[in-house]
Amino acid sequence: MDVFEAVSKRRSIRKYKDTPVEDEKLQNILEVARIAPSAANRQEWKFIVVKNKETREKLVEAANGQAFVGEAPVTIVACSTESERVMPCGQYAYTVDISIAVSFMILEATALGLGTCWLGAFDEEKVRNILNIPERIRVPAMFTVGYADESPHQRPRKHLDEVVSSEKYVTW
Ligand SMILES: Cc1cc2nc3c(=O)[nH]c(=O)nc-3n(C[C@H](O)[C@H](O)[C@H](O)COP(=O)(O)O)c2cc1C
Repeated sequence: MDVFEAVSKRRSIRKYKDTPVEDEKLQNILEVARIAPSAANRQEWKFIVVKNKETREKLVEAANGQAFVGEAPVTIVACSTESERVMPCGQYAYTVDISIAVSFMILEATALGLGTCWLGAFDEEKVRNILNIPERIRVPAMFTVGYADESPHQRPRKHLDEVVSSEKYVTW
């Protein structure tokens, strides 16, 4: 599967089979995070792989009651180990770095035949407490991984001519 195909086929999956995710596939998913780019190549990140059923149930509550978090066999929690650095462009590096790593992992999971769902609706403090994450560590994202038990259609997107302009910014 090439990158375009993985991007096109990916869907947010919120219904999972019980089937466990093979360790080899999980290793591949984590490897793409390891080799993902980051600002100044600082790699200020840690990824927590959660498979334990009790812990996943606790994460449901931390994720605003989203039940599929407990049903997916794996949740990967992306932590930033340095959250102060601002790039010359004015943006915090950590949110960008973590988003790249998580995007790469989600696409790799898609290429391996797995479903994922990015999670932004969660209480960071509760996730920290459940997973023993120190206060200074930020948690910008987590995502579920497992074999999909649904095949959603592609969700609607804006047309390219609504989001692309040539040479200058255009206010539509
Ligand atoms: C930053 C971010 C946060 C998200 N948070 C959640 C979430 O907490 N729960 C959820 O079910 N989906 C979440 N999603 C999934 C989006 O709802 C989904 O990507 C969007 O509706 C488009 O659907 P698709 O992913 O199937 O193309 C999130 C996606 C992103 C990129």
